[in-house]
Amino acid sequence: MSLPVKLAVFISGSGTNLQALIDAVKAGKLSARITLVVSSRDDAFGLERAKKEKIDTFVFRVKDFPTPDKAENHLTTILDKYQIDYIALAGYMKMVPARVIEKYRSRVTNIHPALLPNYGGKGMYGHFVHEAVLAAGDRESGATVHLVDEIYDHGNILLQGKVPVYANDTPDTLAERVLQVEHQIYPEALEKLIRGNIN
Ligand code: GRF
Repeated sequence: MSLPVKLAVFISGSGTNLQALIDAVKAGKLSARITLVVSSRDDAFGLERAKKEKIDTFVFRVKDFPTPDKAENHLTTILDKYQIDYIALAGYMKMVPARVIEKYRSRVTNIHPALLPNYGGKGMYGHFVHEAVLAAGDRESGATVHLVDEIYDHGNILLQGKVPVYANDTPDTLAERVLQVEHQIYPEALEKLIRGNIN
């Protein structure tokens, strides 16, 4: 695949990881062109970040289509139209359709705010993750970039970054510390994947 690859970023919220990817591309640290941002919500702030950079956006809501099948067809058509090579999930709160995972096998990544395989799986997202880490009394946490397969938070781990957990942490202070490391490792992991430096 020739560089820079065409990257689609899928979001549902604030999009700070999207911003980190945008910034890494600008800094020459990520050999990609972010050609499309897909959002599961029309009010995601990440859409504003995309528009500011003149990146095309697409709000994808299954409920806007007569059937899930028609919705998924539409999504794959859009990804084809943009000739997308890689997909980075960045706070995307929906399941990626199986046919997309199949077609982009080993080219869909996700970032998770914990050290997988701990604190992953259905229902483990956002503050639930950090609450569980604190309740367990763990001394460290972190973030994981992994390939996406058909099972939540299950695919091969590409890169992890660790942070300490402090005695006086709240879910919010821990989340903030983890988010900083997410912004560092996501572009780094993607660059390695794109260059074939990780399997
Ligand atoms: C991050 O914590 C990420 O690990 C999780 O969702 C959050 C997204 O944050 N999957 P943002 O929208 O990138 O700011």
